[in-house]
Amino acid sequence: MARINEHYRKLQAGYLFPEIGRRVTAFANAHPDAKVIRLGIGDVTLPLVPAVVEALRAAALESGTREGFRGYGPEQGHDFLIQAILEHDYRARGIALAPDEVFVSDGSKQDAGNIQEIFGLACRIAVTDPVYPVYVDTNVMAGRTGPADAQGRFAGITYLAATEANGFVPDPPAEAHDLVYLCSPNNPTGAAMTRPQLERWVRWARAHDAVLIFDAAYDAFIQDGALPHSIYEIDGAQQCAIEMRSYSKRAGFTGLRCAYTVVPKAVTGTTASGERVPLRDLWARRQSTKFNGVPYVVQRAAQAVHTPEGRKQTGEQVTYYMENARTLRRGLGAAGFTCHGGEHAPYLWMKTPRGLTSWACFDKLLAEAHVVCTPGSGFGAAGEGFVRLSAFNSRENVEEAIARIRRAFGG
Ligand SMILES: Cc1ncc(COP(=O)(O)O)c(C=O)c1O
Repeated sequence: MARINEHYRKLQAGYLFPEIGRRVTAFANAHPDAKVIRLGIGDVTLPLVPAVVEALRAAALESGTREGFRGYGPEQGHDFLIQAILEHDYRARGIALAPDEVFVSDGSKQDAGNIQEIFGLACRIAVTDPVYPVYVDTNVMAGRTGPADAQGRFAGITYLAATEANGFVPDPPAEAHDLVYLCSPNNPTGAAMTRPQLERWVRWARAHDAVLIFDAAYDAFIQDGALPHSIYEIDGAQQCAIEMRSYSKRAGFTGLRCAYTVVPKAVTGTTASGERVPLRDLWARRQSTKFNGVPYVVQRAAQAVHTPEGRKQTGEQVTYYMENARTLRRGLGAAGFTCHGGEHAPYLWMKTPRGLTSWACFDKLLAEAHVVCTPGSGFGAAGEGFVRLSAFNSRENVEEAIARIRRAFGG
Protein backbone atom coordinates (compact mmCIF):
# COMPACT_ATOMS: atom_id res chain seq x y z
CA MET A 1 0.00 0.00 0.00
CA ALA A 2 1.54 3.27 -1.09
CA ARG A 3 0.82 5.93 1.49
CA ILE A 4 0.58 9.38 -0.03
CA ASN A 5 2.34 12.49 1.18
CA GLU A 6 -0.60 13.82 3.16
CA HIS A 7 0.82 17.32 3.29
CA TYR A 8 -0.41 17.71 -0.30
CA ARG A 9 -3.93 17.42 1.04
CA LYS A 10 -3.46 20.64 3.00
CA LEU A 11 -3.11 22.60 -0.23
CA GLN A 12 -6.01 24.64 -1.49
CA ALA A 13 -8.33 22.98 -3.98
CA GLY A 14 -6.34 24.13 -6.98
CA TYR A 15 -3.54 26.37 -8.01
CA LEU A 16 -4.94 29.79 -8.78
CA PHE A 17 -4.35 29.74 -12.53
CA PRO A 18 -6.19 26.49 -13.31
CA GLU A 19 -9.28 27.95 -11.59
CA ILE A 20 -9.00 31.11 -13.69
CA GLY A 21 -8.57 28.93 -16.78
CA ARG A 22 -11.67 26.95 -15.87
CA ARG A 23 -13.83 30.07 -15.52
CA VAL A 24 -12.47 31.62 -18.73
CA THR A 25 -13.07 28.41 -20.70
CA ALA A 26 -16.63 28.15 -19.36
CA PHE A 27 -17.26 31.77 -20.37
CA ALA A 28 -15.69 31.35 -23.82
CA ASN A 29 -17.75 28.19 -24.47
CA ALA A 30 -20.94 29.99 -23.49
CA HIS A 31 -20.00 33.11 -25.52
CA PRO A 32 -18.04 31.87 -28.53
CA ASP A 33 -18.17 35.29 -30.25
CA ALA A 34 -16.75 37.26 -27.33
CA LYS A 35 -13.23 38.55 -27.92
CA VAL A 36 -11.63 37.88 -24.56
CA ILE A 37 -8.59 39.99 -23.62
CA ARG A 38 -6.28 38.15 -21.24
CA LEU A 39 -4.57 40.39 -18.73
CA GLY A 40 -4.47 37.50 -16.29
CA ILE A 41 -1.70 34.95 -16.47
CA GLY A 42 1.70 36.60 -16.52
CA ASP A 43 3.03 35.10 -19.73
CA VAL A 44 4.88 37.14 -22.32
CA THR A 45 3.31 37.68 -25.73
CA LEU A 46 6.11 39.02 -27.96
CA PRO A 47 8.16 36.48 -29.95
CA LEU A 48 11.80 35.65 -29.29
CA VAL A 49 14.14 38.41 -30.49
CA PRO A 50 16.33 37.84 -33.59
CA ALA A 51 19.58 37.57 -31.57
CA VAL A 52 18.09 34.68 -29.57
CA VAL A 53 16.64 32.94 -32.63
CA GLU A 54 19.99 33.20 -34.41
CA ALA A 55 21.81 31.70 -31.40
CA LEU A 56 19.29 28.84 -31.25
CA ARG A 57 19.72 28.16 -34.95
CA ALA A 58 23.53 28.22 -34.76
CA ALA A 59 23.56 25.94 -31.69
CA ALA A 60 21.12 23.52 -33.32
CA LEU A 61 23.26 23.29 -36.45
CA GLU A 62 26.39 22.86 -34.35
CA SER A 63 24.70 20.04 -32.43
CA GLY A 64 24.11 18.24 -35.74
CA THR A 65 27.83 17.92 -36.44
CA ARG A 66 30.13 15.23 -35.14
CA GLU A 67 32.46 17.82 -33.57
CA GLY A 68 29.72 20.03 -32.18
CA PHE A 69 27.45 17.39 -30.69
CA ARG A 70 27.07 17.50 -26.92
CA GLY A 71 25.35 15.11 -24.57
CA TYR A 72 25.03 15.83 -20.88
CA GLY A 73 26.47 19.21 -19.98
CA PRO A 74 27.73 20.41 -16.62
CA GLU A 75 24.76 20.38 -14.19
CA GLN A 76 25.61 23.86 -12.94
CA GLY A 77 25.59 25.40 -16.42
CA HIS A 78 28.05 26.01 -19.24
CA ASP A 79 30.92 28.33 -18.44
CA PHE A 80 30.12 30.61 -21.40
CA LEU A 81 26.73 31.46 -19.87
CA ILE A 82 27.96 31.74 -16.30
CA GLN A 83 30.70 34.15 -17.44
CA ALA A 84 28.14 36.25 -19.34
CA ILE A 85 25.92 36.38 -16.23
CA LEU A 86 28.84 37.36 -13.98
CA GLU A 87 29.96 40.09 -16.35
CA HIS A 88 26.65 41.67 -17.36
CA ASP A 89 24.31 41.05 -14.44
CA TYR A 90 26.84 41.44 -11.64
CA ARG A 91 30.27 42.95 -12.43
CA ALA A 92 28.50 45.72 -14.37
CA ARG A 93 26.79 46.62 -11.07
CA GLY A 94 29.98 46.37 -9.01
CA ILE A 95 29.24 42.88 -7.66
CA ALA A 96 31.96 40.21 -7.54
CA LEU A 97 30.78 36.59 -7.48
CA ALA A 98 32.61 33.36 -8.25
CA PRO A 99 31.52 31.16 -11.18
CA ASP A 100 30.74 28.26 -8.85
CA GLU A 101 28.25 30.40 -6.95
CA VAL A 102 25.97 30.60 -10.03
CA PHE A 103 23.61 27.71 -10.85
CA VAL A 104 21.93 27.79 -14.26
CA SER A 105 18.52 26.14 -14.23
CA ASP A 106 15.40 25.60 -16.28
CA GLY A 107 13.33 28.10 -14.33
CA SER A 108 13.00 30.27 -11.27
CA LYS A 109 9.73 28.51 -10.47
CA GLN A 110 11.64 25.29 -10.00
CA ASP A 111 14.43 26.97 -8.05
CA ALA A 112 12.03 28.91 -5.81
CA GLY A 113 10.17 25.67 -5.18
CA ASN A 114 13.19 23.42 -4.71
CA ILE A 115 15.38 25.64 -2.56
CA GLN A 116 13.43 24.76 0.60
CA GLU A 117 14.76 21.18 0.34
CA ILE A 118 18.16 22.19 1.68
CA PHE A 119 16.65 23.58 4.89
CA GLY A 120 15.47 21.73 7.98
CA LEU A 121 11.78 21.12 8.55
CA ALA A 122 11.84 23.17 11.74
CA CYS A 123 12.87 26.40 9.99
CA ARG A 124 10.59 29.32 10.78
CA ILE A 125 9.44 30.85 7.53
CA ALA A 126 8.07 34.27 6.66
CA VAL A 127 6.55 35.40 3.37
CA THR A 128 4.97 38.62 2.24
CA ASP A 129 1.22 38.57 1.68
CA PRO A 130 0.13 38.63 -1.16
CA VAL A 131 2.79 36.22 -2.36
CA TYR A 132 3.91 34.22 -5.41
CA PRO A 133 2.18 30.95 -4.37
CA VAL A 134 5.17 28.69 -5.16
CA TYR A 135 7.07 29.80 -2.02
CA VAL A 136 4.23 28.76 0.26
CA ASP A 137 2.90 25.67 -1.49
CA THR A 138 6.29 23.98 -1.71
CA ASN A 139 6.83 24.45 2.02
CA VAL A 140 3.39 22.98 2.63
CA MET A 141 4.23 19.96 0.47
CA ALA A 142 7.44 19.47 2.42
CA GLY A 143 5.52 19.33 5.71
CA ARG A 144 6.81 22.57 7.12
CA THR A 145 3.32 23.89 7.97
CA GLY A 146 0.07 22.96 9.63
CA PRO A 147 -3.30 23.18 7.86
CA ALA A 148 -4.71 26.32 6.26
CA ASP A 149 -7.27 28.51 8.02
CA ALA A 150 -10.44 29.86 6.42
CA GLN A 151 -8.45 32.62 4.70
CA GLY A 152 -5.94 30.15 3.29
CA ARG A 153 -3.14 31.01 5.72
CA PHE A 154 -1.09 28.01 6.75
CA ALA A 155 -0.24 27.47 10.40
CA GLY A 156 3.48 27.80 10.99
CA ILE A 157 4.13 30.42 8.28
CA THR A 158 4.38 34.11 9.15
CA TYR A 159 2.55 36.31 6.66
CA LEU A 160 3.80 39.89 6.42
CA ALA A 161 1.01 41.99 4.98
CA ALA A 162 1.91 44.16 1.98
CA THR A 163 -0.66 46.93 2.09
CA GLU A 164 -1.35 50.38 0.70
CA ALA A 165 -0.21 51.72 4.08
CA ASN A 166 3.32 50.27 3.78
CA GLY A 167 3.58 50.81 0.02
CA PHE A 168 3.34 47.01 -0.42
CA VAL A 169 6.79 46.51 1.11
CA PRO A 170 6.49 45.08 4.62
CA ASP A 171 9.14 45.69 7.27
CA PRO A 172 11.01 42.74 8.73
CA PRO A 173 9.13 41.05 11.58
CA ALA A 174 10.02 41.83 15.18
CA GLU A 175 10.67 38.16 15.99
CA ALA A 176 13.47 36.00 14.62
CA HIS A 177 12.77 33.81 11.57
CA ASP A 178 15.11 31.50 9.69
CA LEU A 179 14.01 31.93 6.10
CA VAL A 180 12.26 34.81 4.36
CA TYR A 181 11.11 34.93 0.76
CA LEU A 182 11.24 38.37 -0.85
CA CYS A 183 10.31 39.23 -4.42
CA SER A 184 11.26 42.56 -6.01
CA PRO A 185 9.95 43.90 -8.32
CA ASN A 186 7.01 42.11 -6.83
CA ASN A 187 4.61 39.67 -8.32
CA PRO A 188 1.73 40.43 -7.83
CA THR A 189 1.81 43.99 -6.42
CA GLY A 190 4.39 45.46 -8.80
CA ALA A 191 6.18 47.16 -5.87
CA ALA A 192 9.96 47.46 -6.18
CA MET A 193 12.10 47.60 -3.05
CA THR A 194 14.31 50.65 -2.55
CA ARG A 195 17.90 50.52 -1.37
CA PRO A 196 17.03 51.60 2.22
CA GLN A 197 14.29 48.93 2.36
CA LEU A 198 16.68 46.23 1.16
CA GLU A 199 19.33 47.47 3.58
CA ARG A 200 16.84 47.11 6.42
CA TRP A 201 16.11 43.52 5.40
CA VAL A 202 19.78 42.60 5.07
CA ARG A 203 20.57 44.15 8.48
CA TRP A 204 17.68 42.22 10.01
CA ALA A 205 18.78 38.94 8.38
CA ARG A 206 22.35 39.36 9.65
CA ALA A 207 21.12 40.22 13.13
CA HIS A 208 18.86 37.14 13.27
CA ASP A 209 21.11 34.76 11.36
CA ALA A 210 18.32 34.38 8.79
CA VAL A 211 18.53 33.57 5.09
CA LEU A 212 16.77 35.78 2.54
CA ILE A 213 15.56 34.17 -0.67
CA PHE A 214 15.45 37.06 -3.09
CA ASP A 215 13.44 36.47 -6.24
CA ALA A 216 14.42 39.03 -8.88
CA ALA A 217 12.57 37.43 -11.80
CA TYR A 218 11.39 40.91 -12.88
CA ASP A 219 14.53 42.98 -12.36
CA ALA A 220 14.72 43.93 -16.06
CA PHE A 221 11.53 45.96 -15.66
CA ILE A 222 13.04 48.42 -13.16
CA GLN A 223 12.93 51.89 -14.71
CA ASP A 224 14.53 53.98 -11.97
CA GLY A 225 18.33 53.82 -12.06
CA ALA A 226 18.48 54.30 -8.27
CA LEU A 227 16.62 51.06 -7.50
CA PRO A 228 18.79 47.99 -6.89
CA HIS A 229 18.48 45.11 -9.38
CA SER A 230 20.32 42.66 -7.17
CA ILE A 231 20.26 42.18 -3.43
CA TYR A 232 24.04 41.87 -3.65
CA GLU A 233 24.18 45.62 -4.29
CA ILE A 234 23.61 45.82 -0.53
CA ASP A 235 26.61 45.36 1.78
CA GLY A 236 26.40 42.12 3.73
CA ALA A 237 23.92 40.44 1.39
CA GLN A 238 26.51 37.94 0.21
CA GLN A 239 26.51 36.61 3.78
CA CYS A 240 22.75 36.11 4.03
CA ALA A 241 20.97 36.04 0.66
CA ILE A 242 20.24 33.63 -2.16
CA GLU A 243 19.15 35.33 -5.39
CA MET A 244 17.09 34.05 -8.31
CA ARG A 245 16.86 35.53 -11.79
CA SER A 246 15.09 34.34 -14.89
CA TYR A 247 15.24 34.87 -18.66
CA SER A 248 11.48 34.23 -18.82
CA LYS A 249 10.16 37.75 -18.61
CA ARG A 250 13.26 39.71 -19.52
CA ALA A 251 13.75 37.85 -22.82
CA GLY A 252 10.59 35.87 -23.55
CA PHE A 253 11.97 32.51 -22.37
CA THR A 254 8.78 31.33 -20.65
CA GLY A 255 8.60 28.46 -23.15
CA LEU A 256 12.32 28.05 -23.78
CA ARG A 257 13.14 27.83 -20.02
CA CYS A 258 16.31 29.27 -18.54
CA ALA A 259 17.05 30.94 -15.22
CA TYR A 260 19.73 30.94 -12.56
CA THR A 261 20.18 30.97 -8.82
CA VAL A 262 23.11 32.51 -6.98
CA VAL A 263 24.20 30.93 -3.71
CA PRO A 264 27.29 32.74 -2.37
CA LYS A 265 29.66 30.51 -0.41
CA ALA A 266 29.46 32.79 2.60
CA VAL A 267 25.75 32.06 3.12
CA THR A 268 25.56 29.32 5.70
CA GLY A 269 23.11 27.28 7.71
CA THR A 270 23.77 25.30 10.86
CA THR A 271 23.61 21.63 11.78
CA ALA A 272 21.90 20.38 14.94
CA SER A 273 25.27 20.53 16.67
CA GLY A 274 25.84 24.12 15.60
CA GLU A 275 28.36 23.50 12.82
CA ARG A 276 28.23 26.05 9.98
CA VAL A 277 27.66 24.61 6.49
CA PRO A 278 27.76 26.62 3.23
CA LEU A 279 24.32 26.40 1.62
CA ARG A 280 26.08 26.53 -1.73
CA ASP A 281 27.45 23.03 -1.17
CA LEU A 282 24.03 21.63 -0.31
CA TRP A 283 22.44 23.26 -3.36
CA ALA A 284 25.25 21.91 -5.60
CA ARG A 285 24.62 18.44 -4.17
CA ARG A 286 20.87 18.75 -4.65
CA GLN A 287 21.19 19.95 -8.23
CA SER A 288 23.75 17.35 -9.27
CA THR A 289 21.50 14.61 -7.89
CA LYS A 290 18.14 15.78 -9.23
CA PHE A 291 18.94 17.92 -12.26
CA ASN A 292 20.87 17.28 -15.45
CA GLY A 293 21.28 20.80 -16.74
CA VAL A 294 19.65 23.13 -19.25
CA PRO A 295 19.89 22.18 -22.95
CA TYR A 296 23.01 23.49 -24.66
CA VAL A 297 21.00 25.30 -27.34
CA VAL A 298 18.95 27.09 -24.67
CA GLN A 299 22.05 28.19 -22.80
CA ARG A 300 23.49 29.57 -26.06
CA ALA A 301 20.20 31.43 -26.52
CA ALA A 302 20.47 32.83 -22.98
CA GLN A 303 24.06 33.88 -23.67
CA ALA A 304 22.79 35.80 -26.71
CA VAL A 305 20.55 37.87 -24.40
CA HIS A 306 23.75 39.37 -22.96
CA THR A 307 25.27 40.40 -26.32
CA PRO A 308 24.90 44.05 -27.45
CA GLU A 309 22.18 43.07 -29.98
CA GLY A 310 20.45 40.82 -27.47
CA ARG A 311 20.42 43.52 -24.81
CA LYS A 312 19.09 46.08 -27.27
CA GLN A 313 16.37 43.82 -28.68
CA THR A 314 15.15 42.43 -25.36
CA GLY A 315 15.36 45.95 -23.89
CA GLU A 316 12.96 47.13 -26.61
CA GLN A 317 10.49 44.41 -25.61
CA VAL A 318 10.68 45.42 -21.97
CA THR A 319 10.10 49.04 -23.03
CA TYR A 320 7.05 47.96 -25.01
CA TYR A 321 5.54 46.09 -22.05
CA MET A 322 6.31 48.96 -19.71
CA GLU A 323 4.61 51.39 -22.07
CA ASN A 324 1.58 49.09 -21.85
CA ALA A 325 1.81 49.27 -18.06
CA ARG A 326 1.97 53.08 -18.19
CA THR A 327 -1.01 53.15 -20.57
CA LEU A 328 -3.03 50.96 -18.18
CA ARG A 329 -2.06 53.05 -15.16
CA ARG A 330 -2.88 56.32 -16.87
CA GLY A 331 -6.10 55.15 -18.52
CA LEU A 332 -7.54 53.45 -15.46
CA GLY A 333 -6.24 56.13 -13.11
CA ALA A 334 -7.92 58.86 -15.18
CA ALA A 335 -11.19 56.92 -14.89
CA GLY A 336 -10.95 56.92 -11.10
CA PHE A 337 -9.57 53.43 -10.50
CA THR A 338 -6.85 53.16 -7.86
CA CYS A 339 -3.84 51.43 -9.42
CA HIS A 340 -0.51 50.57 -7.81
CA GLY A 341 2.58 49.02 -9.40
CA GLY A 342 3.18 49.13 -13.14
CA GLU A 343 6.12 51.52 -12.76
CA HIS A 344 8.97 49.04 -12.30
CA ALA A 345 7.09 45.81 -13.01
CA PRO A 346 4.79 44.53 -15.75
CA TYR A 347 1.93 44.20 -13.24
CA LEU A 348 -0.67 46.64 -11.97
CA TRP A 349 -2.31 46.04 -8.65
CA MET A 350 -5.77 47.56 -8.98
CA LYS A 351 -8.08 48.15 -6.04
CA THR A 352 -11.46 46.62 -6.80
CA PRO A 353 -14.11 49.31 -7.26
CA ARG A 354 -17.13 49.56 -4.97
CA GLY A 355 -15.63 47.23 -2.38
CA LEU A 356 -16.06 44.15 -4.56
CA THR A 357 -14.20 41.02 -3.53
CA SER A 358 -11.35 40.04 -5.83
CA TRP A 359 -13.30 37.13 -7.34
CA ALA A 360 -16.48 39.22 -7.74
CA CYS A 361 -14.41 41.80 -9.65
CA PHE A 362 -12.84 39.01 -11.73
CA ASP A 363 -16.31 37.63 -12.62
CA LYS A 364 -17.67 41.08 -13.45
CA LEU A 365 -14.72 41.97 -15.68
CA LEU A 366 -14.97 38.63 -17.47
CA ALA A 367 -18.75 38.77 -17.94
CA GLU A 368 -19.11 42.44 -18.82
CA ALA A 369 -15.74 43.56 -20.20
CA HIS A 370 -14.54 40.18 -21.48
CA VAL A 371 -11.26 40.98 -19.77
CA VAL A 372 -9.35 38.41 -17.72
CA CYS A 373 -7.55 39.64 -14.62
CA THR A 374 -6.08 37.72 -11.68
CA PRO A 375 -7.96 37.92 -8.37
CA GLY A 376 -5.65 39.36 -5.71
CA SER A 377 -7.05 37.06 -3.03
CA GLY A 378 -5.54 34.12 -4.96
CA PHE A 379 -2.13 35.41 -3.88
CA GLY A 380 -3.02 35.60 -0.20
CA ALA A 381 -5.51 37.00 2.27
CA ALA A 382 -4.00 40.50 2.09
CA GLY A 383 -4.65 40.48 -1.67
CA GLU A 384 -8.40 40.53 -1.08
CA GLY A 385 -9.93 43.65 -2.60
CA PHE A 386 -7.36 43.83 -5.40
CA VAL A 387 -6.90 42.35 -8.87
CA ARG A 388 -3.66 42.02 -10.82
CA LEU A 389 -3.54 43.27 -14.41
CA SER A 390 -0.65 42.20 -16.60
CA ALA A 391 1.02 44.39 -19.22
CA PHE A 392 2.08 41.37 -21.28
CA ASN A 393 -0.21 42.05 -24.21
CA SER A 394 -0.47 44.17 -27.35
CA ARG A 395 -0.95 47.94 -27.08
CA GLU A 396 -4.17 47.58 -29.01
CA ASN A 397 -5.56 45.03 -26.52
CA VAL A 398 -4.46 47.12 -23.56
CA GLU A 399 -6.23 50.18 -24.92
CA GLU A 400 -9.35 48.17 -25.73
CA ALA A 401 -9.28 46.60 -22.24
CA ILE A 402 -9.13 50.03 -20.58
CA ALA A 403 -12.19 51.20 -22.55
CA ARG A 404 -14.12 48.04 -21.69
CA ILE A 405 -13.21 48.11 -17.98
CA ARG A 406 -14.34 51.74 -17.79
CA ARG A 407 -17.63 50.86 -19.49
CA ALA A 408 -18.22 47.84 -17.22
CA PHE A 409 -18.03 50.16 -14.22
CA GLY A 410 -20.01 52.94 -15.89
CA GLY A 411 -16.94 55.16 -16.42
C1 LIG B 1 7.94 35.97 -8.83
C2 LIG B 1 8.19 34.92 -9.84
N1 LIG B 1 9.22 34.11 -9.69
C3 LIG B 1 9.48 33.14 -10.57
C4 LIG B 1 8.66 32.96 -11.68
C5 LIG B 1 8.90 31.81 -12.61
O1 LIG B 1 9.89 32.07 -13.50
P1 LIG B 1 10.37 30.95 -14.51
O2 LIG B 1 9.58 31.12 -15.77
O3 LIG B 1 11.82 31.24 -14.67
O4 LIG B 1 10.14 29.61 -13.90
C6 LIG B 1 7.58 33.77 -11.88
C7 LIG B 1 6.72 33.57 -13.05
O5 LIG B 1 5.66 34.05 -13.21
C8 LIG B 1 7.33 34.78 -10.93
O6 LIG B 1 6.28 35.58 -11.07
